[in-house]
Amino acid sequence: MDIFRTKSVEQSIRDTEAPEHRLRKQLTAIDLTVFGIGVIVGTGIFVLTGQVAKLTAGPAVALSFVVAAVVCGLAALCYAEFASTIPVAGSAYTFSFATLGEFPAWVIGWDLMLEMALAAAVVAVGWSGYFASLMESIGVSLPAWMAGETPVVNIPAMVVVAVLTVVLMAGIKLSSRVNLVIVIIKVAVILLVIVAGLFFVKTANYTPFIPEPVPTPAVEGLKAPLIQVIFGITPVSFGVIGIFSAAAIVFFAFIGFDIVATAAEETVKPQRDLPRGIIGSLVICTVLYVAVSLVVVGMQPYSELSVKAPLADAFTAVGQNWAATLISIGAIAGLTTVVMILMLGQSRVLFAMCRDGLLPRGLAKVSPRYGTPARLTLIIGVVSMLLAGFIPLGALAELVNIGTLFAFVVVSVGVIILRRTRPDLPRAFRTPMVPLLPILSVLACLYLMLNLPVETWLRFVIWMIIGAVLYFAYGYRHSRAQRAIEPLD
Ligand code: ALA
Repeated sequence: MDIFRTKSVEQSIRDTEAPEHRLRKQLTAIDLTVFGIGVIVGTGIFVLTGQVAKLTAGPAVALSFVVAAVVCGLAALCYAEFASTIPVAGSAYTFSFATLGEFPAWVIGWDLMLEMALAAAVVAVGWSGYFASLMESIGVSLPAWMAGETPVVNIPAMVVVAVLTVVLMAGIKLSSRVNLVIVIIKVAVILLVIVAGLFFVKTANYTPFIPEPVPTPAVEGLKAPLIQVIFGITPVSFGVIGIFSAAAIVFFAFIGFDIVATAAEETVKPQRDLPRGIIGSLVICTVLYVAVSLVVVGMQPYSELSVKAPLADAFTAVGQNWAATLISIGAIAGLTTVVMILMLGQSRVLFAMCRDGLLPRGLAKVSPRYGTPARLTLIIGVVSMLLAGFIPLGALAELVNIGTLFAFVVVSVGVIILRRTRPDLPRAFRTPMVPLLPILSVLACLYLMLNLPVETWLRFVIWMIIGAVLYFAYGYRHSRAQRAIEPLD
């Protein structure tokens, strides 16, 4: 048996037609773009901006957003080609199965759990923090055991995951409507920050735009970025290097445009609309991020920015408390859709893996009533609830970054391979300048990965080893590709 056996693009597309495994096609390019914005705009802009400006990049944080956007843009162009060629749920997992083979596909599917299920839980915990502080501001203190810094069980995080799970089970169109309403609120809040904030910008806060580099010997051992350990570089904050280190962190803010590809099977005209949704949502978010970060570092000296709620606190600092409350509401709204769509993406990737027999196939049944993989959605909801409720997750956000970057690398390589192995396939969207652009994408992603801490790499490697063991214990024996693609149930 061959663990590198690929699954043909035709077979992947045929599988989407089987009655019990057919998802409902209801999404348009606009729905997909709104989905993208729903999952992209979240913790990254509402929280990380302040942290990174204050500690790593100074006012040049706006440039860090540009660097991260360029890296994501290269990957997005590769995702767009794949998604328009193989419009099947599963995103990077399905793309790898068509190009690299079953085992690499499993590895990517397993890796995507870091991006989606883990990130959903991480963001739900962040949501709970914002929720507690909003309640506080209207005079309701939630007890520390359920919503403090280190709660015994994080009840608000669990409740939000539970509610969103029910919405997701109830149907893709309902999920997309809920998403639309919330996205309108959060984009309005972001625009408010930009427009209202402009009145409080002081040009003096922009100088120096790129502060002088400062050595930071405190970051050593497992917490040091791998690149420093390998090349023996002295760690620095600020300066030009700081802009790049910060880019590896604010990369988190862009995660999500790739998740648009997981909705491929639910899109009415996937070949045309997936590239529009992927690239459109990324472009809109980049413009918003650069504008917000420029305004916020203009409102306060960067060294005074808050690390927990920088956008809201910048308005408090200039005496505009009304805006601070509105921003907190926007942040809560924003994080809600991030959690929802991360879980949606996760359910669709697992759905594709179950359908291929790499995980129990019975789980991939589509509910006849709702047209969603309801059972799988429920399982993901319960797991995310338990993670968010009981595990302190703050430290794991970087694990989400490495998992996502790894998927980007594989997808970029995959574009080059599929051009060679299947030049004949109709490609509604073609990545420009192949192989140069995908190669640049791989290098850019690897560079950002090297900027992540050693401990993140160790956790990543351990997670992948667990995945490999599971594959040989289960997926290898149950896979449909290994059993010569028998018909579905
Ligand atoms: N991009 C998402 C966020 O910033 C994951 O929360």
